[in-house]
Amino acid sequence: MDKDLVQIRFEGKTLDCRPDTTVAVALWENGVRVLSHSPKYGSPRGVTCARGQCTACLMRVDGVPNVRVCELPVRGGMEVARQDTGAFYGPAMQKSLSLGSALFPVGFYYKWFTKPAWVSRYFLKTIRPLTGVGRLPAARALPSAPATEAATRDLGSVETVVIGGGPSGLEAAARAGGRVLVLDENTLPGGQRAAALQAVAQETRGGLGRFPVLAAAHERLDRALADFAAGGAEFRPGSRVIAGYHPDGLLLREGGDLLTLRFGSVVWAAGALDVLGLFPGNDAPGMIGPRALYRMVLRDGLDLGGRRVIVIGGGLDFWLSATLLACRGAHLSLVVTETGWQTEVSAAVDHKWPLHTGLVLAGMSAVGGTSIQATLAPRRSSPGPKLSELRMEGDLAVICNPGKPAYDVLYQLGSELVLQPERGGYLPAGADGSDLGGILPGGRPFRVVGEAAGIRPGSPDSSLPEVRHP
Ligand code: FES
Repeated sequence: MDKDLVQIRFEGKTLDCRPDTTVAVALWENGVRVLSHSPKYGSPRGVTCARGQCTACLMRVDGVPNVRVCELPVRGGMEVARQDTGAFYGPAMQKSLSLGSALFPVGFYYKWFTKPAWVSRYFLKTIRPLTGVGRLPAARALPSAPATEAATRDLGSVETVVIGGGPSGLEAAARAGGRVLVLDENTLPGGQRAAALQAVAQETRGGLGRFPVLAAAHERLDRALADFAAGGAEFRPGSRVIAGYHPDGLLLREGGDLLTLRFGSVVWAAGALDVLGLFPGNDAPGMIGPRALYRMVLRDGLDLGGRRVIVIGGGLDFWLSATLLACRGAHLSLVVTETGWQTEVSAAVDHKWPLHTGLVLAGMSAVGGTSIQATLAPRRSSPGPKLSELRMEGDLAVICNPGKPAYDVLYQLGSELVLQPERGGYLPAGADGSDLGGILPGGRPFRVVGEAAGIRPGSPDSSLPEVRHP
């Protein structure tokens, strides 16, 4: 065994792993793509968000259930196991449910058999367990360490708190007066794409000019970092805001600590979440969004050299993912599903990256244990000769769609939100400009900026307000 590797146990096997990565990436590198199964149909689930925001990577670690392994560092001697070896009624019932799924659409129990009350009670009691109650493997002794209470500290109050340290948050912080605190989950300011932009700028040795969308994003990042450094705002790394209490309270988590903070005004710059989209097989293991890719490659050191990676979509994240993967030696298959990226398409063709246009993603399916297959159909409105359906297989697929604005804490702070599909999610009512704002219940001013306001970065014509592609 390489002396730099550590060993973990996974369901009876010994796996050699890099020590400086997460359990999810270590499993991926050892050919384990399926981390869990959905409780209802038993569908396989692989790493999805890589940031502790979903349930796809819940596993049992050293006997402790429900551990999110996408953020758990590898440690030699760990015992890791899938925890959902059977659904409540077993695999046979899962299969039957799967066959009859059209009869039980998502949320059907909110609409059907609701009256009279006794029918509803009976219905929920008998049917609902089918939809989401799993069964853990036989109980094992849990580690005997006593439960520790998270320490809670109070950070006092600041005049302005900026939640999110990407370019939009840094720009807002540089403009704000008084004591300004920027909270961000990452260790350095710059946001979710910063490490990827800096890596491709360095690894292409100034070649970003071929991709104007990347050059513009990198320039903006540099400017925002410089302005922020020149100002007096403070950056708090590794800080995740987990709750808001109106009128002016925030609860933060930093490692194992909980912290409280009060603010005079708040800038919500929390960015957006990956959205894979609606198509058959959109939960197949082996498919991630670009933000998860950046984390797995740059935070966790996932080596995709020599791997077949399919990148589908458009926008800044599409070109950033493709360039990052090319720099790291992946075998690319690119499918540009948007129009309006002629300069970048020409640069990709010059680089001899296999590239397709005029297609849309029609479905995904897992192939064997470690591959994924994309089915691409001709876009109806495409000019020219009719294309036929295309299938391509890869070790990983990265789906680059416009992100979904994060809004949960803003909602908890009392902001009234309405669904605005053209901006990709729930946003404060009355949105008509690029930045949104108003007064929270209790009188504290707030602003929403950047992707959290539904503004898509790096649209082909950045002089226009960024427009979402439906
Ligand atoms: S929480 Fe781990 S992949 Fe989403």
